[in-house]
Amino acid sequence: MDINVIIEIVREAGEILKSAHLQKDQIFDKEGDANFVTAFDMKIQKFLIEKILEVDPSASFYGEEESADNKKEISSTGYTYIIDPIDGTTNFMFDYKTSCISVGIAYKGSMYAGIIYNPYVDTMFHAVRNEGSYVNNRRLTLENKGLADGISAFGCARYNEDSTDLLFATVKKLFYKTLAIRSCGSAAIELARIANGSNAVYFEMLLQPYDYAAGAVIIEEAGGVITQIDGSPITIDKGCSILAGTKKAAEELRKLLDECRV
Ligand code: 2AM
Ligand code: CA
Repeated sequence: MDINVIIEIVREAGEILKSAHLQKDQIFDKEGDANFVTAFDMKIQKFLIEKILEVDPSASFYGEEESADNKKEISSTGYTYIIDPIDGTTNFMFDYKTSCISVGIAYKGSMYAGIIYNPYVDTMFHAVRNEGSYVNNRRLTLENKGLADGISAFGCARYNEDSTDLLFATVKKLFYKTLAIRSCGSAAIELARIANGSNAVYFEMLLQPYDYAAGAVIIEEAGGVITQIDGSPITIDKGCSILAGTKKAAEELRKLLDECRV
């Protein structure tokens, strides 16, 4: 597996996203509240799987959308590509130009590399385990900022309303402790923004591996941390909550969450 080859495949997929003109009859409901898939989510995932199989025929896939070759499980033998073809689908539907393609790569069941590409601003994040984290090939090193010195981000997808009270109680506390609050609608973009220092922290009560697998390696290789909201390790074979940030800000946010839990 050559990461540069995969990066170029993701860049090409980004062109499909950027030049897409979505028609109303190309939007479909998925299970749960306010959960959608478009013809472009499916087209981009198909494109990525086909291109990756050309260069890595033994690849396994854990993609968000149902498709051929997508087993939705992490292989214990070779490489598994954990794909979100469009992270920020609702943003895409409303022409926010804040969506990205996220490809995490696990090797023998452990996270090995990550790529997150926002084609609208041509920003390519990538990281390989023990080889550092980069944005457009510039190495990233995180400054250990606290909440007071940075922007705090959170995600609030409608499909997970069980934890809404804890989420917004924590956001209210956070509002008084941090410089500014943001929520951009793409978990992968929020995670990438930790690696380059744009966000000090990000949290969300439930995400799926394709939302955070790539971001996890990109954050850790930049010197940040990513865990579940109680501090336990994230899971890549099934979904979990996410709390990521600089070491200092993530610890401060974890304490706020503890204070808000009943
Ligand atoms: P998506 O655009 O790929 O669906 C917003 O809070 C974040 O939650 C986005 O990254 C969004 O990813 C994700 N999200 C929304 N609905 C989801 C679902 N049903 N399962 C997993 N992630 C979801
Ligand atoms: Ca998606």
